[in-house]
Amino acid sequence: MSEPVDPTTTPAWARLTALHESLQPDLRGWFAADPSRAKSFSFTAGDLYVDLSKNLINADILSALVDLADQVGLVARRDAMLSGEHINVTEDRAVLHTALRIPKGSSLVVDGTDVIPEVHKVLGKVYAFADKVRSGEWVGVTGKPMTTVVNIGIGGSDLGPVMVYEALQPYVQPGLRARFVSNIDPTDVAEKTKDLDPETTLFIVASKTFTTLETLTNARLARSWLLEALRESGAIEAGEEAASAAVAKHFVAVSTALDKVAAFGIDPENAFGFWDWVGGRYSVDSAIGTSVAVAIGPANFADFLAGFHAIDRHFAETELASNVPALMGLLNVWYVNFFKARSHAVLPYAQFLHRFAAYLQQLTMESNGKGVRYDGSPVTTETGEVFWGEPGTNGQHAFYQLIHQGTQLIPADFIAVANPAHPLVDGDNDVHELFLANFFAQTAALAFGKTADEVRAEGTAEAIVPARVFPGNRPTTSIMAPALTPSVVGQLIALYEHITFTQGVVWGIDSFDQWGVELGKQLALQVTPAVGGDEEALGKQDPSTQSLISYYRAQRN
Ligand code: F6P
Repeated sequence: MSEPVDPTTTPAWARLTALHESLQPDLRGWFAADPSRAKSFSFTAGDLYVDLSKNLINADILSALVDLADQVGLVARRDAMLSGEHINVTEDRAVLHTALRIPKGSSLVVDGTDVIPEVHKVLGKVYAFADKVRSGEWVGVTGKPMTTVVNIGIGGSDLGPVMVYEALQPYVQPGLRARFVSNIDPTDVAEKTKDLDPETTLFIVASKTFTTLETLTNARLARSWLLEALRESGAIEAGEEAASAAVAKHFVAVSTALDKVAAFGIDPENAFGFWDWVGGRYSVDSAIGTSVAVAIGPANFADFLAGFHAIDRHFAETELASNVPALMGLLNVWYVNFFKARSHAVLPYAQFLHRFAAYLQQLTMESNGKGVRYDGSPVTTETGEVFWGEPGTNGQHAFYQLIHQGTQLIPADFIAVANPAHPLVDGDNDVHELFLANFFAQTAALAFGKTADEVRAEGTAEAIVPARVFPGNRPTTSIMAPALTPSVVGQLIALYEHITFTQGVVWGIDSFDQWGVELGKQLALQVTPAVGGDEEALGKQDPSTQSLISYYRAQRN
């Protein structure tokens, strides 16, 4: 594998530095001077229409960013990823989430195995299972069909499935619902099971490694809840045999570690596998999406995968100058490294995408929140901005103040669809149109602002003119699609996967490991005895941790 190129040593970086130094952001002026600006900087990828024209760019900047991508070897690295090279060097793994959505009949040989037939074999098993649950053929231990599927997982084994389940609510089969338990806070599992009927509840334990403390603890709690409730109601007898029969009907698992699934007591027949070349945060399109496949059905899940694949093809085949994920990733580099932006807002004007920002936080920050490059050397630039957001218009009434008038530059992605799931009217008003008017108005307000003279012209008292000025030149990208279909949701996810990849390539980091989550996990195991009253273990903690634990022990009833 070639060494990472230090982006700051490239001619393109020097050019971008000069362009940044001489840049006087003036979106008003730029749009006035160039009536074709919107057209020139708008692109399509699959069903996505992406308008980059309200960014702080001109043709020279965009072309220098594309040069930067060329000079750091984005294309070679992309192709290495797509062909199954072990670009996840610290874990010595291929990175092949894109293989999960390659259509049947294709071939991709990785480490001596054609992975595509494997992918479709597992998909077939997931689809057959989903059909059985949906049709009522899969029955619980007392012979009743399932009404609730509870996914137990965390991180990539939760955030993707819950986000997509929420996004695709109109596609969920009536009478079936999914719930998602992730936190080891016992409140989570307790609250999410308290009103469920154990006879009609199916748990999906989703864990790539099947070692994750939160997931295994919650899975054991769920098993106890199920067995206790079934015994209490007389639905099953006491004893191990009855318990195993109940678990077989009410628990399935998704994991790369099928041996560990069996050790947990779940029949491997009821387990769906995947592979170590699928990163947790890139896994919603693997068997980790089983809860989604059950809820929306195999045909919709297949459309979802086709959406990913459309953007994969776009990323793989489109020249960089009009390659949407590459351009969006490069724009993020432009803002992080040249404007010193520390965060990036993602603002879906689609209530069904209310978990999208949470999902993206793991995708982007677990991927690019790193200080060393893939050869172990320190990074040479800032990396890993904070991603955050809430659906519009709620965000408008909360934090948009800071985006409009605060002292930090916060690039923002606005996402909307043309056709609502619920086309409601309020008197003469189509409510979706009111909603989208806000989307369009906000991006215009951020771009063009409001000058002091415009404020004065409204008769504003001079003393408060400064407070009512909007500086403008706040960059936004607008992403629109016809409707929030399974395919479009897949397209949006793949878009951000490849944006994240592009940024990681420029910064020279391995976007597919996550060593930064390990230390806290190790320490939690070490601290647990101290929390439980072991004085010797308590004595080994630092003074702050000792006093916190002592406070806890004194307060706990
Ligand atoms: O702690 C982080 C992490 O390793 C994520 O990368 C992963 O998505 C999550 O934990 C859950 O891991 P698993 O699917 O193995 O339970």
